[in-house]
Amino acid sequence: MGKYIIEGGYSLSGEIKVQGSKNAVLPLLAATVLNKGKTYLHNCPKIHDVDSMLNILASIGCIIKWEDDVLIIDSSVINTYIIPEKYVQMMRSSIILLGSVLGRLKNVKIGFPGGCSIGTRPIDLHLKALRQMNISIEDKYGYIECSTDKIIGNKVSLDYPSVGATENIMLTAVLSEGVTTINNAAKEPEIVELQEFLNKMGAKVKGAGTDTITIEGVNELDSVEYRIMPDRIVAGTYMCAAAITGGEILLKDVCKSHLNATITKSIEMGCIVKEFDNQLLIKVPEKLKSIDLLRTQPYPGFPTDMQAQLMSCLSIAHGTSIIAETIFESRYKHVAELVKMGADIITDGRIAVIKGVDKLNGAEVFAEDLRGGAALVLAGLNAEGTTIVNNAIHILRGYEKLENDLSLLGAKVKYSSD
Ligand code: EPZ
Repeated sequence: MGKYIIEGGYSLSGEIKVQGSKNAVLPLLAATVLNKGKTYLHNCPKIHDVDSMLNILASIGCIIKWEDDVLIIDSSVINTYIIPEKYVQMMRSSIILLGSVLGRLKNVKIGFPGGCSIGTRPIDLHLKALRQMNISIEDKYGYIECSTDKIIGNKVSLDYPSVGATENIMLTAVLSEGVTTINNAAKEPEIVELQEFLNKMGAKVKGAGTDTITIEGVNELDSVEYRIMPDRIVAGTYMCAAAITGGEILLKDVCKSHLNATITKSIEMGCIVKEFDNQLLIKVPEKLKSIDLLRTQPYPGFPTDMQAQLMSCLSIAHGTSIIAETIFESRYKHVAELVKMGADIITDGRIAVIKGVDKLNGAEVFAEDLRGGAALVLAGLNAEGTTIVNNAIHILRGYEKLENDLSLLGAKVKYSSD
């Protein structure tokens, strides 16, 4: 399962390029199924979730090739609409293939994605919307089977601005007949990225980034070349690495507008943040300040994917902070592990109360999910002594060479695959 071994107590300094976005590239990889040509992707992060998605694309007929750092996907032939069960269980976000395989083949059969450690992760909103687009859906014995003779555009309203549901509706609608309008759509930057990518293939999508997205169906989509946007959560994680070690780092290749909520909370903790073009400089005071209330919200609110990393910083801030995790029902699996390291945190349902301590102590801890695991690595950077973060495989899903990046900034971090 792999582990990170961290010697804490070194403040970080230097500059680092931020990798391409995991949560942007996964729906874009699904979208490649919609074009009968080739896709050339630049700045694609080499992470496990991308590997999982590429395995699925290859299993349904795509030809995958890396040429230096360019990922080339030939989707001219798709020879099945059945997504292998084993892959869906490995990565629940493979549910994003529902819309694109359905859009291409008018059929899809996919295993019901399991929940994961942060919550049950239902897909009711995805299915409710697709049923309104002339699609019949059977869910039997753990499988979902969708079929239609013709996808017909419609007005759909989401009860909640679900990122995945918004993406699946967009992917289903681009090759449909008529116009689809999504009300109460998710507004995340990854939705805007999907719109730009689809339109570059010849789709007609507009409104992404607002709560109303319109998709006018077209007959076919063309080959495309595209550069993936930087990962705003990896950028935020590195900002927290500077904050928790009292360092000063320059992040290169960031989209500052994607980071507003994270920057605001970093400044509330006492950090100094300077922006120039696509770079961000973060300088950190002697002691971080607590945050009265940090509430996770859909974009542009504070991202749930940054909650664990901020909690690690707040565990050594001066004063008491409160976090309200409003998006996922069980996204505090990292709390018990932080407490093992000397953090003073109590949780009650979706609320966590963090009383800052002077320092954390190195310990053997266990990652349970991607972002909680990253938060434990951050805590290890601060802790006195050695911290071992086990089950590093969770972290490899979304961070490309985390130990290399942190070491470049002066941290003492090693990765061991045993
Ligand atoms: C995406 O997950 C991201 N994953 C998550 O990042 C992120 O935390 C989440 O959006 C919220 O920003 C990818 O993009 C691959 P949702 P997604 O549908 O699409 C409920 C990471 O660490 N819901 O917006 O699954 C759901 O249970 C990952 O990179 C329903 O009730 O998120 C949750 O409470 C973790 N019914 C809330 O909505 C549905 O049909 C938000 O889920 C769909 C969702």
